Amino acid sequence: MRKLLITGGAGAIGSGYAEWARDRYQVTLLDLPGQFDDRHAHLGRLVEADLRQLDEIREAFDGVDTVLHLGGERHPWATWSSLLPANIVGTYNVIAAAVAAACRRVVYASSVHAVSGYPPGSGVTEDDPVHPGDLYGVTKAFGEALGSFVASTEQLSFVALRIGAFQDPRVIDAPETGWMLQDYTAPTDLYRLIDTVIDAEPLRFEIYNAVSGNTFTRLPMNKAREDFGYVPDYDSFQLSTPFREAIRAVGGVADRAMESGMREEIESSTRRKEIA
Ligand SMILES: NC(=O)c1ccc[n+]([C@@H]2O[C@H](COP(=O)([O-])OP(=O)(O)OC[C@H]3O[C@@H](n4cnc5c(N)ncnc54)[C@H](O)[C@@H]3O)[C@@H](O)[C@H]2O)c1
Repeated sequence: MRKLLITGGAGAIGSGYAEWARDRYQVTLLDLPGQFDDRHAHLGRLVEADLRQLDEIREAFDGVDTVLHLGGERHPWATWSSLLPANIVGTYNVIAAAVAAACRRVVYASSVHAVSGYPPGSGVTEDDPVHPGDLYGVTKAFGEALGSFVASTEQLSFVALRIGAFQDPRVIDAPETGWMLQDYTAPTDLYRLIDTVIDAEPLRFEIYNAVSGNTFTRLPMNKAREDFGYVPDYDSFQLSTPFREAIRAVGGVADRAMESGMREEIESSTRRKEIA
C-alpha cells in the first residue's frame, strides 16, 4: 500500500478523498491545529501542523510515497495577505519537504483560476499559457511553475490538477449554481482522476484539466482521456434541469467541449424564458 499524505486533510476535498481512498492507500491527513474532529478520526493518521512552518511539517513526510497537496487558501477573492503565506510559502514548504524526504510524487490541487483569464467557453488545454483571472489563480500558476522546476531538477514527479467547481451533484440544479456549470467537478469524477494520477507511471511533470464531462466547458478533458482512457461520469448540463431543457429546445448538441460561446447564449435564453 502506498503511503499517502494529504495536506488540507480536514477540508472538503481532502476529507472526501480520504474517505474514498482509505482502503486503497495508507493515509495521513495534515491540517492546522483545531481543524480535525470526530468525523476525521477513522480516515487515517491525523497530524496537526502549519504548512507555513517547514520545520513543523517535515516529519509528516517521512516514508511518504505520494503527497496530495490540497492545503491552503481556496477562495478566488482572497487577498495577497492570506495568499502569500498559505499558497506561496505553504506550497514551497510542501514541495521542499517532499524533496527532502525523497517522496515519489506530489499531486497538486491547481485550479481553473490559473487560466480563468481566458473567456468563458474558450476550451483551454493544458498546453495553453497560464492566464489567471485573479491573484488566487496566480498562486496556483506559481505552484505549477515550482512543480515544473523541481520535476526537472530533483527526483520528484509532480502532477497538477486544474480543478473546477467542486460540488455535490445534488446541488447543481439550484438556480444559483448556473455560473459554475462549465467548470463543474463532481466529487467522484475528481477522486477517480486523483487515483489515476497517483498510480500512473511514468509521469515526470504533467498538468491535467480536472472537471466533469460538461457539455460546454472551459477545460476540455481530452488529455486525461488520451493518456489514461479517463472518462468523467458526470455532465453538469445533464444534471441541471433548466439547461437540459434549453439544450433539448435548440435540438441537442453535436459535440462536447464547444468553443462557440453557446453556453452564454443558452444561459440568456433560459433566463428570458424564466422571466417570461
Ligand atoms: N473546492 C473547489 O471547488 C476547488 C477548486 C479548485 C481548486 N481547489 C483547491 O483544492 C484544495 C482543497 O480545496 P477544498 O475545497 O477542500 O478547500 P477547504 O478550504 O475545504 O480545505 C483546505 C484546507 O486547507 C487547510 N489549510 C489552510 N491553510 C493551512 C495551513 N497553513 N496549514 C495547514 N493546513 C491549512 C484548511 O484548514 C482546510 O482544511 C485547495 O488548494 C483549493 O485551492 C478547490
